[in-house]
Amino acid sequence: MSETPLIQLENVVLKFGEKAVLDGINLRIFHKDRLVILGQSGGGKSTMLRLILGILKPTSGKVRYKHLQMHKLSRSKLNLLRTRIGMVYQNSALISSMTVRENLALPVEELGRKNRTEIEHLISKNLEAVGMEGTEDKMPSELSGGMKKRVSLARALMLQPELILFDEPSAGLDPVISSVIDELIIGLTERTHATSVIVTHEMDSAFRIATRLAMLYQGRIIEEGSPENFRNSSNSIVRQFVTGTTEGPMTETLVHADL
Ligand SMILES: Nc1ncnc2c1ncn2[C@@H]1O[C@H](COP(=O)(O)OP(=O)(O)OP(=O)(O)O)[C@@H](O)[C@H]1O
Ligand SMILES: [Mg+2]
Repeated sequence: MSETPLIQLENVVLKFGEKAVLDGINLRIFHKDRLVILGQSGGGKSTMLRLILGILKPTSGKVRYKHLQMHKLSRSKLNLLRTRIGMVYQNSALISSMTVRENLALPVEELGRKNRTEIEHLISKNLEAVGMEGTEDKMPSELSGGMKKRVSLARALMLQPELILFDEPSAGLDPVISSVIDELIIGLTERTHATSVIVTHEMDSAFRIATRLAMLYQGRIIEEGSPENFRNSSNSIVRQFVTGTTEGPMTETLVHADL
């Protein structure tokens, strides 16, 4: 019998007004995958993560979490399910008026299952896991972009999620810090036996992290497979994206418009 996917998107269409940002997505994410999602800016990658997180509902089609169809769940069941998913937002999304400690404590306090000592222990354990030990009393404004990303990663780990979603984890960071974040994603996903979905533009990162890749283009997944498959893809759009060349089908309309 084949393995049940952790997440399954079936013919997912998502429209904002008349515009279908996602236009028939089929994608399966399996336990322990590190699935990298590639795609153009504004192509709907963050939207896809929000669908998986259950913040957005598809206009049509289904998003399943194991055997559960997410948009059929009651609000309380959906909230409970969301506690199994950690999210590292594109802009880190730390609450600026709260210390690092308070930011990390928040998701656990909301659940109300742990006492103060247990929460403190979890905070220091997770800060240590991302190399940010001893920063409990800092305010987000005192941290660099890379440090914020790491704290945001620590926050995503607070509920010991089985699925972690990363939205552009290394965007705007220098290459060394980017590599550190990549290693953290790999190490933490393996150590906690979690599954992760990573949206990135950085090809080096993508190939370093991924066990599988999927490319989103014009609302659909046009290629999906192992890093090896991707490097050798015969799809000209994938080839252009992976090599970052200006000539190819992705820029054809742009080039013609220039002439
Ligand atoms: N809440 C919303 N209401 C209306 N339009 C939206 C909303 N969220 C996203 N969009 C539109 O959907 C499209 C996809 O946005 P999305 O943020 O998912 O792209 P992305 O692939 O993550 O881009 P980037 O790489 O720049 O982060 C964009 O055209 C955006 O303007
Ligand atoms: Mg985005």
